[in-house]
Amino acid sequence: MIRINELSDIDFKNKIALVRVDFNVPLDKNQNITDTTRIDLGINTIKYIIQNGGKCIIMSHLGRPKGKGYEKEYSLDNIKDYISYLLKFEVDIIKDYYTNNFSINNYLNKYKVVLLENLRFYSEEKENNPEFSKKLASFADIYVNNAFGTCHRSHASTNSIINFMKINCVGDLVKNEIVNIEKALYEKVKPFTAILGGAKVSDKIKVIEKLIGLVDNLIIGGAMANTFIKSMGGKIGNSLYENDNIEVAKNLLFKAKKNNVSVYLPSDFICSKSIDDHNVKLFNSSNIKNDYSAFDIGTDSLKLFKKIILNSKKIIWNGPMGVFEKEIFSNGTTKVCEYVARATKSGSYSLIGGGDSVSAVKKNKKEKDVSFISTGGGALLEYISYGSLPSLKLLEK
Ligand code: 3PG
Repeated sequence: MIRINELSDIDFKNKIALVRVDFNVPLDKNQNITDTTRIDLGINTIKYIIQNGGKCIIMSHLGRPKGKGYEKEYSLDNIKDYISYLLKFEVDIIKDYYTNNFSINNYLNKYKVVLLENLRFYSEEKENNPEFSKKLASFADIYVNNAFGTCHRSHASTNSIINFMKINCVGDLVKNEIVNIEKALYEKVKPFTAILGGAKVSDKIKVIEKLIGLVDNLIIGGAMANTFIKSMGGKIGNSLYENDNIEVAKNLLFKAKKNNVSVYLPSDFICSKSIDDHNVKLFNSSNIKNDYSAFDIGTDSLKLFKKIILNSKKIIWNGPMGVFEKEIFSNGTTKVCEYVARATKSGSYSLIGGGDSVSAVKKNKKEKDVSFISTGGGALLEYISYGSLPSLKLLEK
């Protein structure tokens, strides 16, 4: 387990804490928050600091603005009221903090908690610019990283800022992520099953390599399964696959075999001629007709996956089994979600991460039926692959 300062190691009394959060929440076209999870889970750290006599400067990014100044749709104004609502007092937002004569005290004399406008309105944030991070650091006594979902990014507010802050720690959201990911990966409980899905093998090569050394079973679904099936000589019709990764897939299957990891690929797929064509047909996964593409896993695959999942004592799930946003191709992902919830109910430990699988859990109202939902997408995959994240490494004692 990595050793890092946590909130209880720090005295916040009469101190100003600069808290990097990942309040990068989804917004609808009217800029209303559609999923508040990241704020709900991140707010306790702010409350803790206030309750322990400190003041807070919250900083976050929201979306991917151009880095050339203010853009209304990405403004933290869109989330400010929700933060005030959770804290039960007013918070203010600071727009122009990267200027010479800016004084944070003008704000902190009036407010216990202030919010810095979207860090990514300044290109310096993503450039990991030391002048920018030095400026941010000058506002506070203590740096708190509570932005797990962003800890794989080496940006000014997560990386070079550490050079300018004497007292650093992680917040409780980050601590919970570390504790749960380490538990999922390293607690000696068997059988351990990883379920991976999504479109691309290329996004998951490092993760698969790492998991091969840890798991007993590897279930692979989603379009990435096509590349594996093709690498074994299967006929995948018109299905999406990555030609450049055929050899990679072959090697991963070879490594898995060498490590006694059982790999389960879909044996059948629900296919149609295009994603909008609802005339679906079930094909054996290695014998799909030329003009058909696989969009979801089929009933036989589900029977097999169900058996493996219900028999597992530890489960990590990342990535959907098919194009689950389309009702007609959502069955595979929905059923896998149900099986993971059932296994958890019978005492297994389950960790779910990645935007799509987490959305599937929420869509199926299973949030309370799994052990842990990670707030990280890319961050979770990198943590699994490398055993830590660049921003967390800098905080290690
Ligand atoms: C995320 O949503 O995964 C994090 O907030 C990181 O966002 P980014 O991919 O835009 O850096």
